[in-house]
Amino acid sequence: MVDLHFYFILFLLPLISIFFILRSSTSSSRCKSRLPPTPFSLPVIGHLHLLAPIPHQALHKLSTQYGSVFRFFLGSVPCVAVSSPEIAKEFLKTHESSYLDRPRNSTIVYLTYGSKDFMFAPYGSYWKLMKKLVMSELLNGRTLDLLLPVRHDEINRFINSLSKNAKLEKAVDLKGELLKLTNNMISRMLMSERCSEDEDEAGDIRKLVTEISEISGKFNLTDYIWFCKNLDLQGFGKRVKEIHRRFDVLVEKIIVEHEDERRKKDKDEMKDVLDMLLKISEDDNIEMKLTRDNIKAFILNLFVAGTDTTALTIEWGLAELINHPKIMKKAVEEIDRVVGKTRLLEESDIQNLPYLQAIVKETLRLHPTAPMILRTSTEDCTVGGYHIPAKTTVFVNVWALGRDPKNWDDPLVFNPERFEENQVDVRGQHFHMLPFGSGRRMCPGTSLAMQVAQVTLGAMVQCFEWRVGEEGRVDMKEGLGITLPRANPLVCVPVVRLDSVIPMTSM
Ligand code: HEM
Repeated sequence: MVDLHFYFILFLLPLISIFFILRSSTSSSRCKSRLPPTPFSLPVIGHLHLLAPIPHQALHKLSTQYGSVFRFFLGSVPCVAVSSPEIAKEFLKTHESSYLDRPRNSTIVYLTYGSKDFMFAPYGSYWKLMKKLVMSELLNGRTLDLLLPVRHDEINRFINSLSKNAKLEKAVDLKGELLKLTNNMISRMLMSERCSEDEDEAGDIRKLVTEISEISGKFNLTDYIWFCKNLDLQGFGKRVKEIHRRFDVLVEKIIVEHEDERRKKDKDEMKDVLDMLLKISEDDNIEMKLTRDNIKAFILNLFVAGTDTTALTIEWGLAELINHPKIMKKAVEEIDRVVGKTRLLEESDIQNLPYLQAIVKETLRLHPTAPMILRTSTEDCTVGGYHIPAKTTVFVNVWALGRDPKNWDDPLVFNPERFEENQVDVRGQHFHMLPFGSGRRMCPGTSLAMQVAQVTLGAMVQCFEWRVGEEGRVDMKEGLGITLPRANPLVCVPVVRLDSVIPMTSM
């Protein structure tokens, strides 16, 4: 319904604003030669109408006409789309210091307690402090090792629950199950709470994360069209307030429980990331005090950034394996050879499973679950010979980079072998493959996401064969959303392959 409103409003706005055509065309003509090319824009809405239904696909299509760097307007907001590794490198490396901020919309500002978070914080002293804490404590190797038993236990429970479906020959909605798994993992690592212990609360957190991802990615006219600034035409404002209220109630309850527990025990005893955050917030010597809102907004960031993206990567990976039985067979043979047939694959096995690693990289090349990197410039720059003014929003189209025939042989073919031959990694050094971004604002959850995606996908094909109806194939259409969901969720029946490795107990 909200979407219908959106398109209706998009249709009306150009008519209302026809009077602005002359003004907008004359004022910009003076400096056009130095600016990147741009498609014809409509007054007031700019190019908003060209980005539907799936923005990264629409921008890719436009790039075939306007080149690997072109300008467009979201209402009155100036933007640049980038789809070549050379230009991406100029923005993210050569001129990195001018592109360290992210664009924020009114939904994000409200949900993050008035921009008190880490992910959208402007590059400044608060972001630097948080980055230091994230890299040295909250998501570093030591914390990930400490919390390994939690992830291990969640994988065991997940495989165990799939085996119950297998015994009943029951189809599984993998999107839902994988989201439960990643939510449980992040939730336990963050706050020692399982999202699925109490199904009501479980449903609540999962639903909230899905709603937040969905609404944060929608184009809210309030942000792009000046005369809509105080009008909630799409009804987003009301929804956002309600989502925020529900999130706050949930997380406040968990923080209070943690504080009560901390009063009873040794303050240096850390069982999860929330304990670490509370300890940091009690430290009077730290350069900047961490407030309760900062903690809540950080928790929100990790849920939103870390659960959906990882779950969707595993779902796309399995879908590709189902459609490529030879690749599936080779992956299973590698796992059997390295892990054996008496125990379940573990995170420590990953380093000895190069083909499984290549499969996950190939999945991220074709299906990067953060399909565009968004940054805003703080000063004027010259990139690719073009003048890019300050306050321009840059969209680096990671999805398009991964499918460009100039960068990849047979780009649309799922072929993990390509990564056996060349050592392209995913950590922002190779600008034709940027699933986790690049530079100072690169994803701090990369190691965690890679470990979880590899071990889960590996365990799923080690334990089960996957049945998907008569044709034995699944469709690969993309759906709507900022995190590259599938248009049709992957629903299939697991058939037990190795009963001996399926875990029976959990922690
Ligand atoms: C497959 C899974 C994931 C993908 C594809 C992904 C991708 C990305 C990308 C593309 C960015 C923007 C990077 C840039 O601007 O250069 C990002 C940022 C971020 N990601 Fe991830 N991510 C994933 C998983 C995770 C996980 C598991 C966590 C943590 C639990 C996480 C936390 C974050 C945070 C906090 C940021 C903001 C960093 C900043 O602004 O400084 N992500 N992610």
